Amino acid sequence: MKKRPVVVVTRRLPDVTETRLRELFDTRLNLEDKPLSAQELADAVKTADVLVPTITDEIDAAVLEQAGPNLKLIANFGNGVDNIDVSAAVAKGIAVTNTPGVLTEDTADMTMALILAVARRIPEGARVIPDGNWAGWSPTWMLGRRITGKRLGIVGMGRIGQALARRAKAFGLSIHYHNRRHVPPKIEAELEATYWESLDQMLARMDIVSVNCPHTPATYHLLSARRLKLMKPDAILVNTARGEIIDEGALTKLIEAGAIAGAGLDVFEEEPAVNPRLVRLARQGKVVLLPHMGSATHEGRVAMGEKVIVNIRAFVDGHKPPDRVLPSML
Ligand code: 8YV
Repeated sequence: MKKRPVVVVTRRLPDVTETRLRELFDTRLNLEDKPLSAQELADAVKTADVLVPTITDEIDAAVLEQAGPNLKLIANFGNGVDNIDVSAAVAKGIAVTNTPGVLTEDTADMTMALILAVARRIPEGARVIPDGNWAGWSPTWMLGRRITGKRLGIVGMGRIGQALARRAKAFGLSIHYHNRRHVPPKIEAELEATYWESLDQMLARMDIVSVNCPHTPATYHLLSARRLKLMKPDAILVNTARGEIIDEGALTKLIEAGAIAGAGLDVFEEEPAVNPRLVRLARQGKVVLLPHMGSATHEGRVAMGEKVIVNIRAFVDGHKPPDRVLPSML
């Protein structure tokens, strides 16, 4: 690949990232930060040697069909690559990279924050004073649920799941997890974590369930209507991974019916559209909804940008980019 490849960036990135990308490559930025239309995305893959997309760009097989012969690398600004048809890209000789590791702690923090927000009714309470509705303290008002001593079931015990487990343990929760395989014995011992081979059995026994696995064809609606019904009526569900992993319609109905106590959601099946019934539940204080903020820290986004640059640079210099994603990894 040429030393100053054309790098097309689909969204605004942190200033330092954009500046460095411009220094190193023939970089085309999206200064307006408007998500690209289908036509603009098609133009982007035609012109680019390297494409830097985000979750708001659906790089499916049809988009890849329109790619020019120069497109050799898709350096995703993001950890999850479910916005990209990785198999179709690799089949066309286009490498794909992501930004793992640098958003682990921030996402785990946000997951813990959502657990506390739902259990302790923080958003509801935070509205009381600004809305002028505080008549004074009462022994029986705004009571939430204690989290200490409860069971947390983590679905997906990768980097983020483990970082959540470390936090949750410090809060006095007991750690349970379902994963394709056991985590190494040393980590399991350190977290005092219980492995559940059966997701169904784990779901039926947890007070809090957190979704922390990637979205792949195998995890689409992993928390199906049938599985959600296994949860205890006083349990809460938290999702900072991907909306598609939970059957959102079924979850909404179960919360409406009082069959699940509440949920904290940072991700949705049809982002940025959110089911109006979920919004109504948020107004009733039964769910806490965040606009996909899990990794949204200044430090995290700069580190993601740095990863993108290192991946492109390594690739351009003829080396293996450190964060290459292969279809076999999904
Ligand atoms: C990003 C994320 O904001 O990295 C991920 O997988 O979900 C988010 O943290 C987004 O994906 C950026 O493309």
